[in-house]
Amino acid sequence: MTGRLAGRAAIITGAASGLGAEMARTFSREGAAIVVADFNAEGGAAMTQELERSGGSAIFVETDVSRPADCERMVTRAVETFGKLDIIVNNAGIGGIGALADLTEEAWDVVMDINLKGVFLGTKYAWPALLANGGGVILNTASVAGLVPAPGFAPYGVAKAGVVQLTKITALEGAPHNIRANALCPVWVPTPMVEAALLISGDPDATRQMMIDGVPLGRMGTTQDVANSALFLASDEAAFLTGVALPIDGGSTAGAHVMLHRRGGLTG
Ligand SMILES: NC(=O)c1ccc[n+]([C@@H]2O[C@H](COP(=O)([O-])OP(=O)(O)OC[C@H]3O[C@@H](n4cnc5c(N)ncnc54)[C@H](O)[C@@H]3O)[C@@H](O)[C@H]2O)c1
Repeated sequence: MTGRLAGRAAIITGAASGLGAEMARTFSREGAAIVVADFNAEGGAAMTQELERSGGSAIFVETDVSRPADCERMVTRAVETFGKLDIIVNNAGIGGIGALADLTEEAWDVVMDINLKGVFLGTKYAWPALLANGGGVILNTASVAGLVPAPGFAPYGVAKAGVVQLTKITALEGAPHNIRANALCPVWVPTPMVEAALLISGDPDATRQMMIDGVPLGRMGTTQDVANSALFLASDEAAFLTGVALPIDGGSTAGAHVMLHRRGGLTG
């Protein structure tokens, strides 16, 4: 088998949709066997069939990443089916936008449980399998919202900042065991999660334009932009990279006044 991930076995959480789905397609094309792990049973099964129809090897494991027993089973099924685990992408997540003072405790907890604790649980249960494998790769989907604070983004931004810190701690604990850990920090990508946020905004076109105006390269990201970075970080080409939180953001976090930068600053 050829490909940049030939012979690897990878779990991708949240692979039924959006960024996770594109990572699954890309990793599969590059030779990895894929565990599609998602709590959306219909979407997860459909993605698994798509990968198989394209000549890949894949299984679906219905998984809620906020539940320890589900995460343990997802790893067990990966090792039973493919004989080992090389890569886990802790990608599953939900949106969480709203003014801090109006947030309910329940809304806070559900975002923390999925977006932050879910990454911890995926890492915790994958760890023994990665050790048994002689090492491996952990990728966590954080966000630019975990690098730069934005109003209305608690608890999402807090959870993602936690994912960035968790990734760095994972990298330090993993280094002696040949386990690399890196975080993906995308800016806006028009997945179902973002399309839902656009609808809630009340004026999707104006909000979309505002999002684009914040990106120096002048567009939203694509799912393939993110999958390409994930592929690189998962592959041996990134063998010396660990503890990195990679902005995939068209320059958004390069400067504080990105709209001015895009328009040529005060001279433009
Ligand atoms: N789209 C963006 O602009 C963007 C930017 C930065 C970061 N992210 C992050 O990327 C990740 C993927 O988001 P997306 O944009 O592809 O959204 P999406 O809604 O298209 O996909 C998210 C997937 O995660 C699954 N999921 C949600 N909660 C789960 C749970 N508890 N257990 C298992 N699966 C669960 C959903 O069923 C879905 O398939 C998220 O962590 C998100 O926070 C997205």
